[in-house]
Amino acid sequence: MNDMVRGLFITLEGGEGAGKSTNLAYLRQALESAGIPLRLTREPGGTPLGERIRELLLDPEFTGMDADAELLLMFAARAQHLQQVIRPALEEGVWVLCDRFTDATYAYQGGGRGIDSGRIEALEDWVQQGFQPDITILFDLSVETGLERAGKRGALDRFEREQKNFFEQVRAAYLARAAAAPQRFRIIDADRELGVVQQQLDTVIEELVSRYRPS
Ligand code: TMP
Repeated sequence: MNDMVRGLFITLEGGEGAGKSTNLAYLRQALESAGIPLRLTREPGGTPLGERIRELLLDPEFTGMDADAELLLMFAARAQHLQQVIRPALEEGVWVLCDRFTDATYAYQGGGRGIDSGRIEALEDWVQQGFQPDITILFDLSVETGLERAGKRGALDRFEREQKNFFEQVRAAYLARAAAAPQRFRIIDADRELGVVQQQLDTVIEELVSRYRPS
């Protein structure tokens, strides 16, 4: 019998400029130092096919992309990612740290674009068949701060060019998701300075490391 312990699936979420990249590096360092086998990945993307789909999704040339086309491309990339990367890693006992996952679809395509959540659920069931992250770390911050930070990074992608109201909807949808699944979500106040954000993250890291059972 295979008694290999399945890896933990951890997702990182948040609006633009939430500091996910910096904090992802921090999390990675902490988990790897604890001896946890880790695979870092992202959505949309994470596979050669997914990364090509990502280019299409972020390209400002496609401003005006149909919202359903956008939604379906997200799930097309996700199907490939699950099959090629996420499920195999977890089955080998490797933990997967994923920069965005399906909560982003509910936030951006549901909240931001206004797609009915029932339609997103139908695709989620189809592609994931009940599969969910074990833990989701939500970096929450005010839209003003987020856009100011994102604006300093240079050329804006197709999502970053959206208006403030779009991001208010994204934030509200994320917070509603978190409120509906408090056992899965850990909310980080990302409006604070980096040291304070990382202190909050330390609490989550401690909890995660305590769940580690080497196989
Ligand atoms: P990133 O900026 O975190 O790399 O993510 C790329 C963009 O893709 C970001 O603006 C959020 C958006 N996105 C969605 O709209 N829906 C999704 O399901 C995912 C995973 C990302």
